[in-house]
Amino acid sequence: MCGIIGYVGKGQAYPVLIGGLKRLEYRGYDSSGVGLIPSMLNGKIVLRKTDGKIANLEKLVKSQPIPESSLGISHTRWATHGAPNKVNAHPHSDNTGRISIVHNGIIENYELLRDKLKKRGHKFKSETDSEVVAHLISEYYKNDLKAAVIRAIKDLKGAFALGVISLDHPDELVAARVGSPLIIGIGKSENYIASDVPAILEHTKRVIYLKDEELAVLTTDNVDVFKFNGQKVRPKIDRVTFKLDAVAKGGYAHFMLKEMHEQPDVLKQMLNARIKKDAISLEGIGLTDKQIKAIKNITVVACGTAYHAGMVGKYIIESLASVPVTVDAASEFRYRNPIVDKNTLILAISQSGETADTLAAIREARKRGAKVISICNVIGSSLARESDGILYTHAGPEIGVASTKAYTAQLCMLYLLGIKLGAAKQHLKPAEMKRLIKDLKQVPKLYEKILANKNSIARIAKANSHFGCFLFLGRNINFPTALEGALKLKEISYIPAEGYAAGEMKHGPIALIDEYRAVVCVATQSDTYEKMISNIQEISSRKGNIIAIATEGDKSIRKHVHHTIYVPKTNNLLTPLLTVLPMQMIAYYISVKRGCDVDQPRNLAKSVTVE
Ligand code: G6P
Repeated sequence: MCGIIGYVGKGQAYPVLIGGLKRLEYRGYDSSGVGLIPSMLNGKIVLRKTDGKIANLEKLVKSQPIPESSLGISHTRWATHGAPNKVNAHPHSDNTGRISIVHNGIIENYELLRDKLKKRGHKFKSETDSEVVAHLISEYYKNDLKAAVIRAIKDLKGAFALGVISLDHPDELVAARVGSPLIIGIGKSENYIASDVPAILEHTKRVIYLKDEELAVLTTDNVDVFKFNGQKVRPKIDRVTFKLDAVAKGGYAHFMLKEMHEQPDVLKQMLNARIKKDAISLEGIGLTDKQIKAIKNITVVACGTAYHAGMVGKYIIESLASVPVTVDAASEFRYRNPIVDKNTLILAISQSGETADTLAAIREARKRGAKVISICNVIGSSLARESDGILYTHAGPEIGVASTKAYTAQLCMLYLLGIKLGAAKQHLKPAEMKRLIKDLKQVPKLYEKILANKNSIARIAKANSHFGCFLFLGRNINFPTALEGALKLKEISYIPAEGYAAGEMKHGPIALIDEYRAVVCVATQSDTYEKMISNIQEISSRKGNIIAIATEGDKSIRKHVHHTIYVPKTNNLLTPLLTVLPMQMIAYYISVKRGCDVDQPRNLAKSVTVE
């Protein structure tokens, strides 16, 4: 968690840092800070730190102006160790005040190191794990900042991306990473470090994705990259392809709303790129057709919304290819001695490609000999680099903390994978495959139809926004949709919400139902439609308030429910792609109505790079 950005160059550091922090705020937003080496050296690193959002930091700097500076580091925090307050906000400094650092990640052995350093006279101000890094660098510092950082890193256990500045080196920014993401932006007479591309996109499109266990020394005109043994490496400079407007709200009230509306285009682009004359191209998967045909079982590892995508993936792949699929929450997988070997294909799903639990799960699986392919959105992410094959969703940057377009892009990729696998295994007949591809290609148009109905969905959401408890029910391939609907609502409106397999309702959740609960039921036309109607009647007779998500044309459902949101008719297997849209919209409009912070809900962060 947390976002860092650093600047060295001929220009002014502060505007770059504050602008970058705003673009990284999705990574954490409970406190922030900036540390600058003043151009007119006066013996002090200038620090401004505060609790709350970046706007608070801006206010602070207005009231306590900072001097000119062309070298600085900054940080937006999602607290792990120590409360979100001014003292625990980054940057942290050593006792001399001559060295300051920003850190993203967790230093696992910080207590041990802190005790050792205390004995050597270091005085600590904060409760954070990060502060130890500044003191450690100071302990090893002998006029060579790079050497001191490398030496300090040898003592650190855990995950970190670091930005380091020192008064003794007023033109040098040192950065390093183990586990947590860090990129370097190459400008003209200025260079940058950042946790993610959007932070620097305004200034440059040329980036180096720093690899694990690499360190960089940035000056105004130069960037040198080293391994931790001091050996210099020649980094690859990539060109970022997305544009600045991809990371701006573009007239929408919130990023989440914008990202929901981007879904038709995201899917259209993926389908155009991956479907060639009724055949599926999974370029990047890292498996030959023969290897694809030989897949015997798949284990999905993922977290949060991506985990729900994996659950839908199980239905898709088992139905289209008859290959057994196990779906594991990555945080559980790694600690339960999973039965995985060289015959298992691990399918990791992650928007960011930086989720600590997902990364740990694939590392564990690889140790056991399994091959790993990933569905991931962020190009060059740790997951992408550590996988044997990578299927990029190319959904563009997702800024809203609640995942929307990344989820539907993951689903779309899972359909493509299922079809490819089904065809390779000859489980899916050519005619069925052709029909399914045709139906899949229709989905972006159907999205437009659902989105066009947003006023009516907003009305229904607002009319139900006062309920203090929600239940989401679905069956079969739409059971994960119910889970995802509940997650979206919890995340951004803080209303307790539970997702359940409708058939399980009678085993517990039915006890919750009375006139004070709202129940969202996915009741599209399918083999289990009648069963869903029975569930709806059970809820109705207990006075529950029902919102049904039904197939266009199903008028009869209306007599059983309070509100109906229609989705267009499609192949039953494809319905999760459609039914999740009203779920996203219900959560969004309820959150807005209740005055919640849609894009930056409390206690959450977009990418969870700690366990
Ligand atoms: C966080 C985010 C969720 C996301 C999950 C997994 O909890 O708030 O929206 O689904 O992490 O993230 P990933 O980047 O691995 O998909």
